Amino acid sequence: MLSKRMQELKPSPTLALAAKAKQLKADGHDVISLTVGEPDWTTYAKAKEAGKTAIDENKTTYTPAAGIPPLKAAIAELIGQQIQKTIDPSQVTVGAGAKFIIYAALTAVLDPGDEVIVPSPYWVSYPTMVELAGGEPKIVQCEESTDFKMTADQLEQAMTSKTKAVLLNSPSNPTGAEYSTEELVALAAVLKQHPNVVIISDDIYNQLSFNSESLSPHILNVEPSLFDRCLSINGMSKAYAMTGWRIGWAVGPEVLIKAMASFQSQTTGASSSVSQWASVTAIKDCHKEVEQALVALKERKTFFLDKISKVPGLSIFNPQGAFYLWVNINQWIGQSYKGEALKDSKQVAEALLNDEKLAVVPGQEFGLDGYLRLSFAASTKDLEEATRRFLNFQSQLS
Ligand SMILES: Cc1ncc(COP(=O)(O)O)c(C=O)c1O
Repeated sequence: MLSKRMQELKPSPTLALAAKAKQLKADGHDVISLTVGEPDWTTYAKAKEAGKTAIDENKTTYTPAAGIPPLKAAIAELIGQQIQKTIDPSQVTVGAGAKFIIYAALTAVLDPGDEVIVPSPYWVSYPTMVELAGGEPKIVQCEESTDFKMTADQLEQAMTSKTKAVLLNSPSNPTGAEYSTEELVALAAVLKQHPNVVIISDDIYNQLSFNSESLSPHILNVEPSLFDRCLSINGMSKAYAMTGWRIGWAVGPEVLIKAMASFQSQTTGASSSVSQWASVTAIKDCHKEVEQALVALKERKTFFLDKISKVPGLSIFNPQGAFYLWVNINQWIGQSYKGEALKDSKQVAEALLNDEKLAVVPGQEFGLDGYLRLSFAASTKDLEEATRRFLNFQSQLS
């Protein structure tokens, strides 16, 4: 009965792992989950109030497929400030989360067989979404020596006559690596040589940057002329702690935005009206809250980095943004645990979950084995206890 596409489709591994951890918790186990990519603080009060008001004012009907005008205007202003360009609301489309917006973007640009350059380690969903949209992911393996970032040379070498798009994600999920202005200048120089290639810039963590500006540099800051073939994708989930409200957006040239809006209108329809109204308030009135969240995240990063670095055999990448630690466990691979040699990150993650009741995501899921991704959007108590469990696990290796 199932189509070939669906037979091959695996559910999102991070969501599956998070669900397994939740189930163990429901079964009475004392589980600590550092799996899921969401803030552990709640949606800001002003945004919640705006959502409630929208319900009371009966703003509960269908909206335009590309979003309500006040939200498109708020997004145009926010992103316009970030990329230092005047954005017209016609250059914005709002959808049901950045995830769907990325899929809509890929659908808008890909014909069967087109290649999309995906730097690895990558966010788990990119390769699958490229395939679902009919394209072929062209994975570029990025090295620890370049902080897991794609170099201009690698980008140039990955380009073929079939290349249709490049996916950029800074700060990155899973590594937290952020492209510097100089690195973006070099990438932009390559992109300028390939005028038919679309840039899909996933900026979902750009306001959770630990640099002095509290904002990640953007490819359009260094090369504004790329705007006509760049989709800047972002949303409410991370900086505004609104994962469940499902609001994401793309800013870009009208021709692509219009196509995406048509696709949305024929698939999901408009995103939730209530969520859109709450998002207007969050974007306009919650700057302070975003700042405070970033301060808290920086503290937790420092706290967890300090603790977890003391676990023998682990080496940790110092992230420049987002809320993940990317942990090199290669020194553990090959060691004996309960009489068996550890062979990969999946086995380590499974053992941590089964025996230590500690849920983490294996690097394999992000295209690079020998690593684990740990979310530090958790309480310091949980981060401390997670470290204790890591130490307990490590003490049994030989
Ligand atoms: C890199 C990256 N892009 C996009 C998304 C999707 O975000 P949304 O909740 O808006 O669908 C996530 C969520 O985990 C992410 O980590």
